[in-house]
Amino acid sequence: MTSILALGSWIAAGSAALVPLPHSVQEGDGHFEISPATAIRHDDALAGEAALLAGDLKLAAGHEPRLFGERLKILLPSEIRIDLDATLDLAPGGYRLESSPDGVEVVGKDAAGVWNGTRSLLQLIGCGAKDNPKVPAVSIVDEPRFQWRGMHLDVGRHFFGVEDLKEFLDWMAFHKLNVFHWHLTEDQGWRIEIRKYPKLTEIGAWRESTPPYGNRNGDDGERYGGFYTQEEIREVVAYARQRHITIVPEIDMPGHMAAAIAAYPEFGNSDVPGYAPKVMTRWGVHPYTLAPTEEAFGFVDDILTEVCELFPSEYIHIGGDEAPKGQWENSPRVKELMKEEGLKNGHEVQSYFIKRVEKMLEAKGRKLIGWDEIREGGLAPSATVMCWRGDGIGSAVASAKEGHDVVMAPNSTLYFDHYQAPAGAELAKGAEFEAIGGFSPLSEVYAYEPVPGALDAEQAKHILGVQAQLWTEYMKTWNKVEYMAFPRIAALSEVAWTRPDRRNYDDFRSRLDGILACYDAAGVNRAEPFDPPKRETKDGSTVSTSLGIHENHWPELVFDGRMDTFFWSNRALKAGDHLTIAFKQPMAGKVEVRTGGAEGREEDTLENGVVEASPEGTEWTEVARFRNGVANGPLPEGSGRLRIRVTDPQTNWLKVREVLLEAE
Ligand code: ACM
Repeated sequence: MTSILALGSWIAAGSAALVPLPHSVQEGDGHFEISPATAIRHDDALAGEAALLAGDLKLAAGHEPRLFGERLKILLPSEIRIDLDATLDLAPGGYRLESSPDGVEVVGKDAAGVWNGTRSLLQLIGCGAKDNPKVPAVSIVDEPRFQWRGMHLDVGRHFFGVEDLKEFLDWMAFHKLNVFHWHLTEDQGWRIEIRKYPKLTEIGAWRESTPPYGNRNGDDGERYGGFYTQEEIREVVAYARQRHITIVPEIDMPGHMAAAIAAYPEFGNSDVPGYAPKVMTRWGVHPYTLAPTEEAFGFVDDILTEVCELFPSEYIHIGGDEAPKGQWENSPRVKELMKEEGLKNGHEVQSYFIKRVEKMLEAKGRKLIGWDEIREGGLAPSATVMCWRGDGIGSAVASAKEGHDVVMAPNSTLYFDHYQAPAGAELAKGAEFEAIGGFSPLSEVYAYEPVPGALDAEQAKHILGVQAQLWTEYMKTWNKVEYMAFPRIAALSEVAWTRPDRRNYDDFRSRLDGILACYDAAGVNRAEPFDPPKRETKDGSTVSTSLGIHENHWPELVFDGRMDTFFWSNRALKAGDHLTIAFKQPMAGKVEVRTGGAEGREEDTLENGVVEASPEGTEWTEVARFRNGVANGPLPEGSGRLRIRVTDPQTNWLKVREVLLEAE
């Protein structure tokens, strides 16, 4: 058995990489070459998977393999065989992949397993155009840890076209993610055609204005909107289904419904003072909720009927998050209902509402899933809970202990609308890099553990899986969605698929290079992976300073080999302030010290100062002076210390990016 670290370097060396990491991988000898003679032989039940694989191989290899059904017993010179074996001792979605110079065989526990195996095959080939690409000889046995490996996308705040969604589904499949949570309705836009209620899209799909980047309470004054026709929805659902991805649609209720209520005001709380619903032009939580009236329940039931006709998913997501109770509390009609039904407060009205909707879905043969607020006021008996608030652990543990299924989707870690690199560094690149807030770097996504420690093995079975969220207030373009999703989607996939004892961030990072090559070859607008700085120099040298330290901008970061990290003082400078490196071993060569903002921006640069060198820190020699925040000079033989010394006071704080040394 190859160790997982060795596997990482072996795969990375060939520019191919497996993410998520399989359950077990054994390296063989040699490789299989995909040539124009290579054909795919498939079980008759796998014609769809075979055709998609042929198309993918055409992209990877330049020629499309011919397909042969199982019953054609002719001998093929070069063959990729895909087959089913329900007796494999693997979880649903599991597979075996064997490659050798003679051929490749992918055998799935089920069709989803075959599909997942073909995704591994493509990752073994690697990305970037090449003639007759090679599949390394390897033996893989693999199965998913979780059955819900989800990615969410909000198309309410901003709307994205069918072609973008299809590409996204392909990337999900590439990483063996299998649930696409399509958040279709919002206060700022209703995006799904409902034939019985045409005003939902005639009125509800359009808003009059949108806050521009950099001005959350501003208006661009431009009409914005769009929606999917039922025909387009069917097309996306079919596309996903062929790729073994379930689309779970979300119709968010009773809150986040302002666009629908603007279209059909009679289903809102029209008896409250100042009632004037409109499609919202600002982000955040808005007061408009559906009324818990029979008319409104009829409206919801009709909508869900059409939704269930479009989406074969077992689960239908009904939102349930962030529903303000104020309108209900001020509505004479709702107060009457509360008396009749014995509902004590707004939470119990919400619970009453969700339980009614659960019954509607049950009557249609479906299961209800909702955000964790559906617990408040009493959880509907067979509901599944998507835990998003904070780390999600409290609601997950309570729900699982009560026997409810749970999907972990915590905003503490898996909200991909949060920054993935420090906000300051992102915003320095332009206002369009604005995110909603937060900080979820790749390493934190990777380290996420979905099963709360408080659950025993039996209760833990209620954790169906894990999901990341793409809320799109700050994603006006598909490019921005890609920037926020990639490469964090790769880390998510390993959290969702790979057993925890096989997960190792450094190994993942070494494999990620091959995956980034795939994104780049396809023109995905990915982010550069950002690893939060560690408080250490690159070689064990030590750094001291007379200055205080702002936040995590430690002095060690001036000698960590990274330009994106820096020391930042927490005060103005006095003459004589210093930052001093004691080198691990004496140095010589050319030295350059850079201060100030990224890419030479004048921001807390050192105005007046010198760089000095010393053998042991007693006798100092000036080697350079700062000009425009930069100092260059020769570092004498045997320099054990280097000191940046302030020569005149300055009111600005100081950023020192890096001390760069070049040996003579
Ligand atoms: C949510 O973020 N409101 C589920």
